[in-house]
Amino acid sequence: MNIEQVHRADEELVALVARLLAQLTEARTPPRLEQLQEVVSTQTLLLARDDDGTILGMLTFVLYRVSSGLKGRIEDVVVDESARGRGVGEALTREGMRRANDAGVLMLELTSMPYRQAANRLYKRLGFVRKPTNVYVWWPRP
Ligand SMILES: CC(C)(COP(=O)(O)OP(=O)(O)OC[C@H]1O[C@@H](n2cnc3c(N)ncnc32)[C@H](O)[C@@H]1OP(=O)(O)O)[C@@H](O)C(=O)NCCC(=O)NCCS
Repeated sequence: MNIEQVHRADEELVALVARLLAQLTEARTPPRLEQLQEVVSTQTLLLARDDDGTILGMLTFVLYRVSSGLKGRIEDVVVDESARGRGVGEALTREGMRRANDAGVLMLELTSMPYRQAANRLYKRLGFVRKPTNVYVWWPRP
């Protein structure tokens, strides 16, 4: 298995991301081609690929600078149901951590709902700690 960064979006990637995203949340509309092109050109979309070329999972690494410093964020971590429990999620997350470290971030953050038990175990195993900070969200009216 290897982890690679995607630099160009095409319809094949659109279909792949839609398939993986559906395993993360049912409530989201998958990105269209131009939206995915924006993701790959402004963020780091990582794919895990099996030795036979099959895509096993994805993770998006975001790097951003605010006045208080450089921060990293991990988003949209999904491993295909058929490939779970083989270390793919760990390999993707470790690559995000490596990139964050190389960039010199103050911190690398992510969120995970408590019911996502495998994910919470994974992040804790890799050294992430739960912050006491309350996470707030506001949704604009559709
Ligand atoms: C969370 C998720 C990304 C983890 O991906 P994964 O590839 O299964 O993760 P890993 O294989 O690295 O680790 C999962 C388990 O497999 C075990 N494992 C790791 N390498 C292994 C290997 N080579 N052989 C067997 N088991 C292995 C790990 O020890 C771990 O066990 P645990 O859950 O009992 O602690 C995946 O379950 C998923 O996509 N879930 C749905 C979406 C989701 O919740 N995403 C996270 C959003 S925050």
